Amino acid sequence: MRKIQMVDTKNQYLAIQSEVDQAIQEVLDSAAYINGKAVKDFIQNLSTYLGVEYVIPCANGTDALQIAMMALGLEPGDEVITPSFTYIATTEVVALLKLKPVFVDVDPITFCMDIESLQKAITPKTKAIVPVHLYGQAAPMEQIMEIAKAHHLYVIEDNAQAIGCDYTFSNGVIKKTGTIGHIGATSFYPSKNLGAFGDGGALFTHDKVLADKMNMIANHGQSARYYHDVVGCNSRLDSIQAAILNIKLKHLDKYNAARQQVAKYYDAAFAQLEAIIPPGAANYSTHVYHQYTIQLKGVDRAAFMAHLIGKEIPCMIYYPVPGHLQKMFGEQKNADWNLPVTDQLTSCVCSLPVHTEMDEVQLLYIVEGIKSFFK
Ligand SMILES: Cc1ncc(COP(=O)(O)O)c(C=O)c1O
Repeated sequence: MRKIQMVDTKNQYLAIQSEVDQAIQEVLDSAAYINGKAVKDFIQNLSTYLGVEYVIPCANGTDALQIAMMALGLEPGDEVITPSFTYIATTEVVALLKLKPVFVDVDPITFCMDIESLQKAITPKTKAIVPVHLYGQAAPMEQIMEIAKAHHLYVIEDNAQAIGCDYTFSNGVIKKTGTIGHIGATSFYPSKNLGAFGDGGALFTHDKVLADKMNMIANHGQSARYYHDVVGCNSRLDSIQAAILNIKLKHLDKYNAARQQVAKYYDAAFAQLEAIIPPGAANYSTHVYHQYTIQLKGVDRAAFMAHLIGKEIPCMIYYPVPGHLQKMFGEQKNADWNLPVTDQLTSCVCSLPVHTEMDEVQLLYIVEGIKSFFK
């Protein structure tokens, strides 16, 4: 049996090696390492895939979120509502820009932003909502957009974990996540569903004014060469990463389908196990399983994970400490947050290996390994 990994980027590469190597060689031959043809092609390819007017590439997903917040003109003290149960990047950039993160709870089935908690968190100082499509499934965007409209708030979708996910509105219209809010932000970190061989990120919008602003901010606030109109940063997707992403984008739907197959296998295997709650499915969204995250019921999680590790089955806790309890948020840490679902999830979630290169031998081994813990 091949060694089991949380993600297997090496074997994924080997399956498309000749395509990728050729694309990289073309960049090397062109010597256009920055803003070369591959980057321009990727902008076009991704905007066609997502059905979004503007794609702005940048250096990573964290920068994408930061650039989005800068482009919206948010000012120090403005409140930004975001789930506490997410990767730190989502909330870190809020604090970095001296905005105030306002943490809300998540839905116990989808692990995404809870609507009631969102409604309660809105104050006159609220300026933006940042829903996260956690683990590969969409937050309830239709309701979020309605609430945002009613309160004149911006919505930035953190789509780092859900590229390729489809959201179905109540009128039957289907849109890709990341293209529903005012701005979508994503990451091409190697382990992501669409992963580069290094860092990368992108922003999406249908709004030309915002697109121009974000392009400018990502490029030192530059409007014309050496003319800098606003304070920006240096955040670029390099040509080699773009060339790799152009190839991998062609395989993205197949990759997501492979992840869904793995999830289906796990779902069936765990159906009879009371101690394992498989990830829940939203009726408005597909799930692209960036993670397959179970909840353990009445189980000593540390012992469960030690049992798996002992069998060389990797597993991870995403995320052991929610945002509102992170040291970096100082005073917010002591605020009176009431996030019971988040607190509960951080104590009982466990993510299992899910990626595009898993075979049945590995899956059977993982499932048998898990079952043996309960015998
Ligand atoms: C939900 C979420 N937001 C933002 C990011 C930040 O992306 P990056 O690591 O490319 O900065 C990540 C990934 O790491 C993520 O999972």
